[in-house]
Amino acid sequence: MARIERPLRVGVIGTGGIANSHIQGYLKAENVELHATCDVIESRAKGVAEKYGFKHHFTSWEEMIKTADLDAVSICTPPFAHIEPTIGALEAGLHVMCEKPMALDSAQAQQMIDVWHRVRGTHHNLFSVGFQSRFGRNAQTLKRFIDAGELGDVYYAKAAYLRRRGVPAWGVFTSKALNGGGPMIDIGVHALDLSMWLMGHPPVTSVFGVSFTKFGNRPNVFNPWGKWDPAKYDVEDSAFALIRFANGAALQLEVSWVLNLPKSSTETLICGTEGGAQLDPLAIFQEKHGTIVDVVVPEKATEGQDASREPNHVHQMIAWIEAIREGTSPLVLPEQALTVSKIVDAVYTSSETGVAVQF
Ligand SMILES: NC(=O)c1ccc[n+]([C@@H]2O[C@H](COP(=O)([O-])OP(=O)(O)OC[C@H]3O[C@@H](n4cnc5c(N)ncnc54)[C@H](O)[C@@H]3O)[C@@H](O)[C@H]2O)c1
Repeated sequence: MARIERPLRVGVIGTGGIANSHIQGYLKAENVELHATCDVIESRAKGVAEKYGFKHHFTSWEEMIKTADLDAVSICTPPFAHIEPTIGALEAGLHVMCEKPMALDSAQAQQMIDVWHRVRGTHHNLFSVGFQSRFGRNAQTLKRFIDAGELGDVYYAKAAYLRRRGVPAWGVFTSKALNGGGPMIDIGVHALDLSMWLMGHPPVTSVFGVSFTKFGNRPNVFNPWGKWDPAKYDVEDSAFALIRFANGAALQLEVSWVLNLPKSSTETLICGTEGGAQLDPLAIFQEKHGTIVDVVVPEKATEGQDASREPNHVHQMIAWIEAIREGTSPLVLPEQALTVSKIVDAVYTSSETGVAVQF
C-alpha cells in the first residue's frame, strides 16, 4: 500500500486527563489535523477543542463518527466506555487507539477484536491499545539488548508497580462495574504488557493470583490523591500473581494502590541464562572473563545517544501516526492486550477460588 501523505484527521473521544497526553503526541506527529473532540460533558469537549484548535466538538461519539469525516480516533473514556465507541469506530473504518485497560474484562476485549477481524479486510484499519511504557527510551534500549541475545534465554521476570498510598480517588477508578477492578487492571496491565513484551510474548500456561481489599472500605485512609467513599469502594487495593509460560519462564507480579511499604516503587527485572536486566535506571548484569560485570546505560543523554526526552505518550502517538501512514502493524497489537486482559481476569478468578487458572 502506498504511504498516506495527506494530513490525517484525528478525533478524541473522552477529553479528561489522559486525552491531553494523546493530543501532545498528535501535536508532535507529522501532518496531523486535530479535527474533533467528544465528551458527554460538553464544556470539556468544547474546552479541549478551543485549547488545542480542534475544528469541531461533540457530546455523542456516534454523531462524531457519523459526521466528522475522521481517519483515526483516540478512545480516552473510562474503561466501562471503551467497548462501544471502539466497536463503532472500527465498524466505521477508522483507525482506533484505545486507552488501557483495553476493556472491563477479556470477554469485552475479545468482542472488540472479533469486530476488527471482521472489518479490517474491507477498511484496512489499524487497532492498538495505549501501553506507552514500551516506548520509553530505556525500554526500547533493553528490548534491543534482549533481542540481540545479551540475556540468553529469559526464564524469570519480576514486575512490581507498588504505591504505598496512591489511590486514584477521582473518576471511576474505585468502582468494579465502571473500572473493571483496582490496581491490577489499572497499573498491573502496564506492568504485564511491558514485561511480556520484553520476554518476547511467550504463550501463557497458568496464572496463580491473590488480591486484597484491606484499605478501600476503611474511612480516612491517608491518601495524598484525595478521598473516596469507603461504602462504594468495591475493587482490590493490592494484587500479586505468578504467571507461567509455555517456554518454562515465569513472571512475578506485584501491584498496589495502598500497601504498608517503606516507599512506593516501580521495578522491572528480567533474568536470563546470559544476563539479567533492570529498567529505570537501565543496567545489565552479566558474568565475563571470570568476574561479574554490570553494563550501565547513563541516564543523561550524551553525544551519539538519543537526546529526546519526550514523554512516552508522545513517542507512542508519533509511532501510531507513522504506522497509519505506512499501513504497517503498530507496536502494540490488540491480541497482546487481550492476553493481558485474560491474565487480569485470571488473577481475580484465582484469588477467589484459591487455585491457579490454566490457560
Ligand atoms: N496510559 C496511561 O498511563 C493512563 C493514564 C491515565 C488514564 N489512563 C486511562 O485512560 C482512560 C481515561 O482516564 P482519565 O484519567 O482520562 O479519565 P477522566 O475521568 O479524566 O476522563 C474521561 C472522560 O471521558 C468522558 N466520558 C465518559 N463516558 C463517555 C462517553 N460515553 N462518551 C464521551 N465521553 C465520555 C468523561 O466525561 C471524562 O471527561 C481510562 O481507561 C484510564 O485507565 C491511562
